[in-house]
Amino acid sequence: MSDWTRREFIKIGAATTGSAILPGATNRLLAAEIPAASQPVAHASDAAGAASQRERLLMDFGWRFHLGNANDPEKDFGYGDESEFAKTDELFAPSRHDFDDSGWRYIDLPHDWAVELPFVEDRVLTEHGSKPIGRAYPETSIGWYRRVFRIPASDAGKRLSLEFDGVFRNAMVALNGDFLGRNLSGYAPFSYDITDFVNFNGPNVLVVRVDATEQEGWFYEGAGIYRHVWLVKTAPLHVPQWGVQVTTSVRRSVAEVTVVAQIVNEQDETSPCQVETVILDPEGKEVARQATSLDAINGHEQTQCRQKLPVPDAQLWSLEKPVLYRAIVTISNSSGVSDRYEQSFGIRTIRFDANRGFFLNGAPLKLKGACNHQDHAGLGAALPDRIQFYRIEKLKEMGSNAYRTSHNPPTPELLEACDRLGMLVMDETRMFSSSHEGLSQISRLIRRDRNHPCVVIWSIGNEEPAQGTPRGANIAKAMKRLARRLDPTRLVTEAMNNSWGLGLSSIVDVQGFNYGNAEKIDAYHRKFPSQPSVGTEVASTVSTRGIYENDPERGYVSAYDLYAPAWATTAENWWRIYDERPFLAGGFVWTGFDYRGEPTPYGWPCISSHFGLMDTCGFPKDNYYYYQAWWREHPMLHLFPHWNWAGREGQPISVWCYSNLERVELFLNGRSLGAQDVQHNGHLEWKVPYTPGAIEARAYKSGRVVLTERRETTSAPARIVLRPDRARISADGEDVSVVAVEIVDAAGRVVPYAGNEIIFHIVGGSGGEDATLRGSAGEIGTAGASLGPKLGILGTCGKIIGVGNGDPSSHEADKSNVRRAFNGLCVVFVQATKQPGEVQLLARSSGLDEATVTIISESATSRPVA
Ligand code: GAL
Repeated sequence: MSDWTRREFIKIGAATTGSAILPGATNRLLAAEIPAASQPVAHASDAAGAASQRERLLMDFGWRFHLGNANDPEKDFGYGDESEFAKTDELFAPSRHDFDDSGWRYIDLPHDWAVELPFVEDRVLTEHGSKPIGRAYPETSIGWYRRVFRIPASDAGKRLSLEFDGVFRNAMVALNGDFLGRNLSGYAPFSYDITDFVNFNGPNVLVVRVDATEQEGWFYEGAGIYRHVWLVKTAPLHVPQWGVQVTTSVRRSVAEVTVVAQIVNEQDETSPCQVETVILDPEGKEVARQATSLDAINGHEQTQCRQKLPVPDAQLWSLEKPVLYRAIVTISNSSGVSDRYEQSFGIRTIRFDANRGFFLNGAPLKLKGACNHQDHAGLGAALPDRIQFYRIEKLKEMGSNAYRTSHNPPTPELLEACDRLGMLVMDETRMFSSSHEGLSQISRLIRRDRNHPCVVIWSIGNEEPAQGTPRGANIAKAMKRLARRLDPTRLVTEAMNNSWGLGLSSIVDVQGFNYGNAEKIDAYHRKFPSQPSVGTEVASTVSTRGIYENDPERGYVSAYDLYAPAWATTAENWWRIYDERPFLAGGFVWTGFDYRGEPTPYGWPCISSHFGLMDTCGFPKDNYYYYQAWWREHPMLHLFPHWNWAGREGQPISVWCYSNLERVELFLNGRSLGAQDVQHNGHLEWKVPYTPGAIEARAYKSGRVVLTERRETTSAPARIVLRPDRARISADGEDVSVVAVEIVDAAGRVVPYAGNEIIFHIVGGSGGEDATLRGSAGEIGTAGASLGPKLGILGTCGKIIGVGNGDPSSHEADKSNVRRAFNGLCVVFVQATKQPGEVQLLARSSGLDEATVTIISESATSRPVA
């Protein structure tokens, strides 16, 4: 374990000065019923209903895609050959209406082309997931997207804009050949007003050239338009993007809701303006209303309306009951309603205390957090919204209550999932900088996210080289000043892995500790007793699911809680420290899920990290259960390893148990090996000479057996079992069922070493008629071809969009319908089409009984699309 691939530096701890604590309170976003992202919705009608011209249309469907070339204009659709900017109207050859895009693939968004590429052995790529993207790979680092759409003549007079939730990265956007803009960040959202460039009642050609050559992070980042794109239509007098800010304060059971709305008048004429705000409670019942008449707004100017609305008997947003209110802001002028902007929010209070940690709604709450990157097995960075919810559900099941969006702004749906499921968030920007670009990125992050009740703190950076310097402090000061102006309700931190007490320690409100030990943390607290602190990054324990011996050749690390890089530590070590110190607000484990890149402690053939408490698919590793034992109240018991040790008969095997009960007794083939008392925040261990059969743990409370767990020696793999996380999904073209696949023996026990290759098909397929699948997925559908015309990856009602198995050294394709099991398990993602009906998934593997499962795709209202 000495060959750590990254980080030669030593983490050093130190000290800082305290700073003021803001009173807690606030925020908003997304009504549970709203299907769309964290944004206002067009057609909702309710107590406050009134027609408006606002529409928000999803532009995810029906794109064409082609790789370009970073070095050769001829292979890059002429880009760079001519003076692109010489004349308005002529940006990008593919912008021309008569451009022949028949050779371009059909794709739907979200789309990540990096995940479709083969793995490549190249040291430069190791930390980034071993995909050929970068200066040495010009032919796979540029992506072109083209989408033709119509705007009806009836839209003349409206304001039209395009909103991109996130494109990785350096995106240049043209509409009908006109330059709309260039956006550097791969994570910050951006938008363009397209009103002047649109053809009414004719085709509009939208072209996006994406240049992923340069990385922003040191991990897998994907490539392409990997988040949603929206077309927004409004009347000239309207609320701009993110134009409603809701803050709340609570005294006894009465909340005061402050709604600040921006209103812009994007026309030549002066317009009168009335603003009426209605607050709807979680059940949709009106609980407050206020109307305000503003001075007339001059053409092309904007104004602001501030309203304070008391809400009696306020229901507080909490982890157990994450209730969301809605503010409906209606803008009217002399011709009636011109805009209706809907903003969800939560009512709750937050507070960081230097001695007592974090408080939610007045009660102390230890942050039991996980840091995460945004990629997932089979999907890369392009996650359907359902997968965001799936991931948060898994973390909650583990007992986690907090999520750090390391190291970048998340997609809006991640925050929507946290709002709706009850998960606190440390929301982090990517660029630690007070440059125009850096401030623009954090400003977009805060303006977009500040109404989410889940967000409790902003992070302005992670382990920045300047963290301990006066220069770093200057930058942090400017970022914090902006953060405070945009959101006076939340504090700011930075994740510091050294120089504690120097540089920006004196600027941030909450000291963030990345790693470090108890002595350093205690010394810091003694020196700066009035500054709150949190473990922004802890643990970094490495383990591979289902592996119990280090195997450097294959790139696997044992799953016992024993191994961590030099700067890191085990689950048991860090949690004991944090649990015992009330002044620490809690900590964020590196990481909840494995992610692509950073294959510490190994390199190739490893292509993904081992830091997760779950693998890349979301299958729990054993450490997951450590946290479940000590982070949740529920009685639990977990026993490992498996009991298939052929060839090791008589040799001692380390048997571990996690339990939060009082005492655990272990049995081997019915014979007691003794009972041990559970140690708080610890684990139990027996050395057991291997004999095939079964080990069984019995956990006791007050002398009674409460739980038992067995691991049995299995026989050979015999059949496949399919377990969809949801057997009913919505036929909206977006919803997904995550189907876990188990290889079991004749007695139905998961075979812990099984690596059988499985081919998946949707039965009753319509075979490649879906536009999306004529692209990347079309190419992978061929595996089913020999098995008959009715099999494939595309069915009438559902399609396969990816596979995975959590093996950090697997080089199999993610965009495929073929996957080996890894230690008995793999996963297949089945996405609904817009056709309701039964989706039958078939799984076959040579020598095993096949399996089928039916997922019902129920008719559903799809989001309005452009
Ligand atoms: C941290 C860093 C993370 C990740 C981790 C691995 O220092 O912030 O991004 O690299 O180390 O242990």
